[in-house]
Amino acid sequence: MTVEQTQFPDKLIDRFGREIDYIRLSVTDRCDFRCVYCMTEDMTFLPRKQILSLEELYQVAKAFTELGVKKIRLTGGEPMVRSDVMTLIEQLGALPGLEELLLTTNGAQLGKFAEPLKQAGVNRINISIDSLDAERFKRISRVGKLDKVLAGIDAANAVGFDRIRLNSVIMKGYNEDEVLPLTDYALQRNIDIAFIEEMPLGEASDHNREDTTCSNEWVKQVIAENYELVESAERTAGPSRYVQVIGHNSRIGFISPVSHNFCADCNRVRVTVEGRLLLCLGNEHSIDLRAILRDGTKTEADLKQAIVDSMAIKPERHYFYDKDHAQPVRLMNMTGG
Ligand code: GTP
Ligand code: 5AD
Ligand code: SF4
Repeated sequence: MTVEQTQFPDKLIDRFGREIDYIRLSVTDRCDFRCVYCMTEDMTFLPRKQILSLEELYQVAKAFTELGVKKIRLTGGEPMVRSDVMTLIEQLGALPGLEELLLTTNGAQLGKFAEPLKQAGVNRINISIDSLDAERFKRISRVGKLDKVLAGIDAANAVGFDRIRLNSVIMKGYNEDEVLPLTDYALQRNIDIAFIEEMPLGEASDHNREDTTCSNEWVKQVIAENYELVESAERTAGPSRYVQVIGHNSRIGFISPVSHNFCADCNRVRVTVEGRLLLCLGNEHSIDLRAILRDGTKTEADLKQAIVDSMAIKPERHYFYDKDHAQPVRLMNMTGG
């Protein structure tokens, strides 16, 4: 792809006045787990030629940072199962203009990768963990091994990232009795924890999501019965609303897309591993960046122009569980976290 001199805005602003300074970049649709809320048991994954190469992923990230994006979160699938992903992460860590490089992972490989990730410039890590009971962990992740994830969390903690946050999806009938054990576990390690309401992304094969979704109001109530909580003054631009626990350093976050719509503050877009620029998690509006990347007649300026133009189709909000609106058919691993 050749470079041309064209003037571009230094900020991405959508038609609702929201500044988009954060991308969630999916580096693979594959994962070594099969969590019940994210995937079906017998997933087929994308053939290699359909997914962006590491070089293409870098080109996309570079174009976004040149358009004012300051924060990149790597997602998947599980980012760390992509071979050679560290090469990309090292390059991203050195991107001018990028203030934060973040990773969302299932933690299973952090024993090996925590140190290199820190060295490469990753600032913060979010690690998914939905149960502290090995049997149950296996039921939810279908194949995951709890002890590997616990070792991964310890390794990440030892390395000294700016912040570590656990992510727990609480579901009725699976793990609703683990709210307190998970909270205690995070508090004891001085790390944050976020509770996430299960979102209707694609069809779950093991349960009916409307029966299992647990409201965060309830989760917060359970914690408040055991700890003194104060609303945190800190407002991150992300979907998480945090509380502070008196006497502890950890923050507890609540990501409540189902019970509370936080779209008015949205600061982000996603790029799927197929190079589809998804303008909203809960809608299908997207632009095919891969077609531009792979068209020999197109330049870096065309890529940037497509990104700038995409701001005109970023939807105002999602409509989860609203019967008058179509629900996303994409599963989370295809969406990218
Ligand atoms: P920050 O980068 O610190 O804002 O973290 P995060 O909470 O966005 O990241 P993480 O990858 O840990 O995601 C936690 C949960 O929030 C996942 O279930 C995401 O799908 C969900 N999430 C992230 N961004 C959005 C969003 O824009 N809309 C909705 N509905 N959910 C989101
Ligand atoms: N609803 C809510 N959270 C989900 N995750 C995956 N699928 C869903 C879903 N359907 C979570 C994972 C991980 C984060 C990236 O998204 O647990 O922490
Ligand atoms: Fe893998 Fe994360 Fe999906 Fe679980 S939620 S299957 S760990 S990508």
